[in-house]
Amino acid sequence: MTQKTHLVLGATGKTGRRIAARLRLRDTPVRAASRSSRVRFDWSEPDSWDTVLRNVDVAYVVPPPVPGPVHEFVGRAEAAGVRRLVLLSGRGADSWGDSAFGRHMRSAEEAVRGSSLGWTILRASNFAQNFDEDVFHAPLVAGALALPAGEVPEPFVDVDDLAAAAVTVMTEGHRHAGQVYELSGPHSLTFAEAVELISRASGRPLTYRRITRDEYISSLTGQGLSRHDAEDVAAMFALMESGLIAGTTDGLASILGRAPRTFEEYAIRAAAAGAWDER
Ligand SMILES: NC(=O)c1ccc[n+]([C@@H]2O[C@H](COP(=O)([O-])OP(=O)(O)OC[C@H]3O[C@@H](n4cnc5c(N)ncnc54)[C@H](OP(=O)(O)O)[C@@H]3O)[C@@H](O)[C@H]2O)c1
Repeated sequence: MTQKTHLVLGATGKTGRRIAARLRLRDTPVRAASRSSRVRFDWSEPDSWDTVLRNVDVAYVVPPPVPGPVHEFVGRAEAAGVRRLVLLSGRGADSWGDSAFGRHMRSAEEAVRGSSLGWTILRASNFAQNFDEDVFHAPLVAGALALPAGEVPEPFVDVDDLAAAAVTVMTEGHRHAGQVYELSGPHSLTFAEAVELISRASGRPLTYRRITRDEYISSLTGQGLSRHDAEDVAAMFALMESGLIAGTTDGLASILGRAPRTFEEYAIRAAAAGAWDER
């Protein structure tokens, strides 16, 4: 009989790429899937899901940014004989209120918790890698980041730690069944402190400025986001400013058996790779 495989959704993204690479190095069979991967998976094309789910033992699920599809996906996974699901969610998913982020994360969590499969939920803090691989990157390369975030610190999590934890949970599932882990970095920093560290590590005079929610929404709509999406992104900062998710957790240490990496280590690694060099 063919050995069952580990399905990684969002396989070209920040977490999925790293998880797939780690699984491959363990000689664990991997099926890396997304819209642009060789194995195609699209949340908006349920007809294609059964092929992707064939012969899968454990699936890492990066949910879509809309509520709903994970319920049907879980049903298909059950029918396909998948044994376990590991879901990526966000810190404080219960506290997000009626924002689109809150709705999609809660919907995905409900789908996974309600399944007959083994499951684990990984609720991550803001990623350190947002500064070099996502939304904060372009403004930093241009020299200045402006966000509606002030004195409330954020315990940025290193995505390499998150990926290591996801792989541990995927490969040692019995220890983690039915667990919801809140995963943060080891210290909380303000955005100004994070940008200061990046500025020093990269040797560039980068600045950080706090702006109002309305200014931020205008800047996002100016970059092409709809008003609705811009308000949802702003809602994430409102939750952070409330202080509800500002504290560190021991989730990564309890999964990995070691302290999580610091933001300084991340900044050194990314600066050495030239992430914030002037273009
Ligand atoms: N950034 C943060 O600070 C943070 C913190 C906590 C939780 N999260 C959660 O993390 C998730 C994002 O994970 P990530 O950062 O690893 O990914 P990412 O870097 O944002 O990349 C998105 C991944 O999803 C795939 N994808 C996009 N649309 C798709 C679709 N319609 N069907 C199938 N695949 C699709 C993309 O690949 P293709 O383009 O090839 O399809 C890509 O692999 C979100 O749910 C977010 O809420 C983020």
